[in-house]
Amino acid sequence: MVYRQVFVDREQEVNRIVNRIKSFPLPSNRVIRDRFILIVVGPKGIGKSTILRRIYYNIDIPDTYIAYIDFKKTYTSVEDLFVDFIRQLYSSISEYSRLHYRVKDYGLRVLKYLVKKILGEEFIDEVVSGKLELFSKSKTPGILLSDLILCLAEITGSENKRLALIIDEFQELVKTFTRVGVDKKYFTQSFIHFLSKTQEWGIDVKDVPGYVIPILTTSDYSFYTEILDHSASYIEPLYISDLDEKYSKELLVRQASINNINIDDKALDLVYSYLGGNPLLLTMFIREAIEEGVARVDIDTSIEIIKEIATRIAGSFLTGLSELDRMVLKVICRHGPLNTEEIYEYLDRELLRKYSIDTIPNLEVYINRLIERNILYFMPFKGLWFQNRLLEKIVCEGVFINYGRY
Ligand SMILES: Nc1ncnc2c1ncn2[C@@H]1O[C@H](COP(=O)(O)OP(=O)(O)OP(=O)(O)O)[C@@H](O)[C@H]1O
Ligand SMILES: [Mg+2]
Repeated sequence: MVYRQVFVDREQEVNRIVNRIKSFPLPSNRVIRDRFILIVVGPKGIGKSTILRRIYYNIDIPDTYIAYIDFKKTYTSVEDLFVDFIRQLYSSISEYSRLHYRVKDYGLRVLKYLVKKILGEEFIDEVVSGKLELFSKSKTPGILLSDLILCLAEITGSENKRLALIIDEFQELVKTFTRVGVDKKYFTQSFIHFLSKTQEWGIDVKDVPGYVIPILTTSDYSFYTEILDHSASYIEPLYISDLDEKYSKELLVRQASINNINIDDKALDLVYSYLGGNPLLLTMFIREAIEEGVARVDIDTSIEIIKEIATRIAGSFLTGLSELDRMVLKVICRHGPLNTEEIYEYLDRELLRKYSIDTIPNLEVYINRLIERNILYFMPFKGLWFQNRLLEKIVCEGVFINYGRY
């Protein structure tokens, strides 16, 4: 059976983003603007991309172009990322002819640049076109990227429009640059600052002919806090949290029904009590049920199956954890929600003796990995906690299951 998707309401989040874009004055309205960058932040699988795709595909904001770029986790080089950025930009703005044309023009020149680079030929300074100056020897890919964005800003500015530039998984941009030796902190700061500058237009600011509203997503909290530390004055965070009970159940019901599965109220209660409101986990539940060939999920006939599937989904996140990972989890289980410093404090002396002091300072890395793997999530203002109740239960009761499916 082919698995099919539904969408349940995220009206509040969608409206908040759309209204924020709309609230930004158009270029012809020559007022000094507060710059802003919207950062959509929340645990993996919580629905960030789904919300933004919804806006991109389904909502028409007056006087606003929308571009959607989804950074992958697999770029092997900056050039690789750069080409993908252009490709995605090109297809996502295909209906806006002037922008589309400019990106195509730009993309072709980037290709020439890359061909020259790959073939090892000298760069030729001869083709310096407009403001792009693509073939100048001194231009790094970071500057090429900024040039492209500035160019888009200029066009939208001249048309008295806005460009909402959605970049999903923004941290991948930074990671890719960092891998080739660019200083992470410097790059993040300067790129974020640059993005915010593309909103200055009119008045006497002639050097930045802007009109781009960056909307970035990330599930990497340490990255997000880093950005916030340096640019707090113009970063606007939007935290995405679990679906509430009503929508979690609606997701299950609709996802089940579209896939020809019946699910009754008691079973819904049980699944929700195990997996909570993370749409990814709920979706996985239905997918697993399909794979098991379950046609009815009801509490009387399938309670064992429900438990089994839910436990398998939750347990699958815990495969392959190191001893230190498990200790961290147990500490959080006993005392959480906790922040990193508190976790340090609670990891008792025995642990510190067992692992040399040198390994413990990597705790941040461990914790980020646990967040990445959907085991922990960061509750703003509270600290780290388990992604769902079942995981907490499994860890607290000391049952680690080795299902190797994910
Ligand atoms: N509002 C929704 N209605 C129905 N399904 C949803 C909804 N939001 C998310 N999902 C489902 O949950 C899964 C995860 O969502 P999504 O990819 O948007 O999460 P994310 O926050 O972008 O995660 P990541 O940090 O890994 O990128 C998807 O399979 C998606 O179909
Ligand atoms: Mg996503």
